[in-house]
Amino acid sequence: MRLLFLGDIVGRSGRKAVVEALPGLRKRYDLDFVIINGENAAGGFGITEGILDDLHDAGADVVTLGNHAFDQKDTLVYIERRDTLLRPLNFPKGTPGKGAGMFKARNGMDVLVINAMGRVYMTETDCPFRAIDNELTACRLKQGADAVFIDFHAEATSEKQALAHFVDGRATAVVGTHTHAPTSDERVLPGGTAYMSDAGMCGDYQSVLGMDTGEPINRFLTKIPKGRFEPAEGPATVCGLAVDVDDKTGLAARVSPLRIGGVLSKIEPAFWVA
Ligand SMILES: [Fe+2]
Ligand SMILES: [Fe+2]
Repeated sequence: MRLLFLGDIVGRSGRKAVVEALPGLRKRYDLDFVIINGENAAGGFGITEGILDDLHDAGADVVTLGNHAFDQKDTLVYIERRDTLLRPLNFPKGTPGKGAGMFKARNGMDVLVINAMGRVYMTETDCPFRAIDNELTACRLKQGADAVFIDFHAEATSEKQALAHFVDGRATAVVGTHTHAPTSDERVLPGGTAYMSDAGMCGDYQSVLGMDTGEPINRFLTKIPKGRFEPAEGPATVCGLAVDVDDKTGLAARVSPLRIGGVLSKIEPAFWVA
């Protein structure tokens, strides 16, 4: 099974790049399943139902979120009827929506997708390790699901790497999101779980985390807000992680970053390019 994950979409530039590129990527790589983190898709803050529709139309199977999950207040309402939109699993009990779901891939296989949030340098949540452990205990690889994909939305690489090793052999892949900068540490862990500390954002990299540089610089200099954070509007780089799944075990066979467009160097998953 061929699985593609794309990191945090930031604003119009990120949306445009993903919506334009994804149909071609699905075809070119013959993708079975596509997950996108959309927590910054609406002007940098959260996601609207219309944007969710656009991402599905372009070829996304599941959209994950993070600390910005509910920045668009409507999300609290519509997330309850949109099964393909996941917010962090370890949000307080009673939070609308859900943090994990089972989805059908194009090849007929069942994919469990989990979205969870870290706790180091982040707002307080329940323990992500225990929350994910509960899901994996209830749904074992090749018993409950053919593949298990975890989007771990966290700041600290230590927490991301610890979580990945904690689930190594029980999940197909753990990919980090939230820092908006792609790391070059993608690998398959000893137990067979693919890992990358951060997928990077889908946004304009001539920016501060996808935002115009003026206001971030101002806040570091003065601590006095002068205006709002506005997404940078230059051409976006589509950034993510390609995972080739061993269908017999549900573990990762091969893993590669993917970077297309914008100012970052292009990277295509060699094992999917003829
Ligand atoms: Fe983000
Ligand atoms: Fe985030």
